[in-house]
Amino acid sequence: MDFENPDRMYLLFDALLNTRLGSMILPIYRNYIRNLDLAGDERVLELGSGSGIATRHLAGVLRKRGGRVLCLDPSKTMTDMARKRMRKHSNVEIRTGDIRTLDIEDGAYDAAFVHFTLHDIDEEIRLETVMALCRKIKPGGKMFLREPTVKFGAMPVEAMRDILTRGGFIEESHRLISAPLLGPMYEAVYLKSPG
Ligand SMILES: C[S@@+](CC[C@H](N)C(=O)[O-])C[C@H]1O[C@@H](n2cnc3c(N)ncnc32)[C@H](O)[C@@H]1O
Repeated sequence: MDFENPDRMYLLFDALLNTRLGSMILPIYRNYIRNLDLAGDERVLELGSGSGIATRHLAGVLRKRGGRVLCLDPSKTMTDMARKRMRKHSNVEIRTGDIRTLDIEDGAYDAAFVHFTLHDIDEEIRLETVMALCRKIKPGGKMFLREPTVKFGAMPVEAMRDILTRGGFIEESHRLISAPLLGPMYEAVYLKSPG
């Protein structure tokens, strides 16, 4: 999908999340993010933050103890939407660009958050992007990943494991679940490999 010019269905779904019906969908995001192993004081790097649907909940969890989120997305359309949505959240920074080339400190982030993004990264640059993400995380840092396994151009779970392992991560835990609208998903926690 072209996230610089998202189709009407995508924009409709995004707009829906700001309505009363949306508040029925949002717990799928909120409950997942509230239950992540985050103390609230971390620096988190969100890769592929899109319009900031998940970021809003992440920022809430981190606000309690001074944590911060750096959102990255190559799409200007998406980051403009996220800036609008997140304008009242002082612990969020949003940058437009590619993690492989943006000037971002290595080894500075306690955790990474990747939500419905890995499958949308062009295959030719996926491994390099995962490697760049891994470099930004502190030794022992975690990556929280949730990806579709059937809908939305999903990747097979084994292909995700393979690229993340080659990119410098080790799977710590995972579960396969399903949620209304989003469908079947792979939720996993990865650790930055010490080697
Ligand atoms: C399906 S959206 C998910 C957005 C958000 N994470 C969410 O869950 O609502 C996928 C996002 O991945 C982004 N993306 C595509 N290629 C990327 C890349 N190379 N690096 C980071 N993000 C990328 C797209 O621009 C888009 O915003």
